[in-house]
Amino acid sequence: MKGVILAGGMGTRLYPLTRMMNKHLLPVGKYPMICYGLDRLRKAGITDILLVISRQSAGMYTEFLGSGAEFGVSLTYKIQEAAGGIAEALELAKDFILPGERFVVLLGDNLFTEDLTPYVSSYLRQPEGTAKVLLKPVEDARRYGVPVFDSADSAWIARIEEKPKQPKTSYCVTGIYMYDKAVFDIIRQISPSRRGELEITDVNNLYAADRKLSYDVLKGWWSDAGTFESLREAGEKLKDALP
Ligand code: G1P
Repeated sequence: MKGVILAGGMGTRLYPLTRMMNKHLLPVGKYPMICYGLDRLRKAGITDILLVISRQSAGMYTEFLGSGAEFGVSLTYKIQEAAGGIAEALELAKDFILPGERFVVLLGDNLFTEDLTPYVSSYLRQPEGTAKVLLKPVEDARRYGVPVFDSADSAWIARIEEKPKQPKTSYCVTGIYMYDKAVFDIIRQISPSRRGELEITDVNNLYAADRKLSYDVLKGWWSDAGTFESLREAGEKLKDALP
């Protein structure tokens, strides 16, 4: 199992802070945000990790993280030249993932305290060519991708609605995804959305249409630290999470 953390993007909701520093390098507790995703992957036994980063902040990432040895991981870096969507960033992992390999993708601003090991194990038992997403009940699902199910006991997601005005469930699809190499064929099938980006929800919906998108529900604390309020909360929650 390999890991991919997507840590490019503009972070516009955190302007003006993110005009000088990439969102995933902003302080959360004692460490830059990126360290928490690295820690969660390492805890699940995933140490071979690709970081997709933006050109502007590449120097800061390599200076702080280096080879990853100090953090108990081995890092590979890929540059996303321009922000073209989560699925476009993910496409950059194509050569990092070898045939037959599976991997966990984390959006770098998704912070959580739970151990991913049981979810990874359950994904590894799924058939080849299927995917898994992790869900979390949230207060305002309208800010997120929201899963829709055929029935309450269905093991597969029927579809995901991205930022719906009237969410059909109160779950959010978190930025924690599991795929195998088949995802790169799926990415090739999608087109840019109205905002001109390759959307991860379009990728996941192609899996869902074939009933190949499973899910688990995160039990512990989770946040996407993409706003000032959630960033502040995350700093408080995680202040002693890392040594
Ligand atoms: C992205 C995804 C969305 C998901 C969210 C989780 O949204 O498009 O489906 O629920 O991450 O953090 P964004 O935060 O890029 O608007």
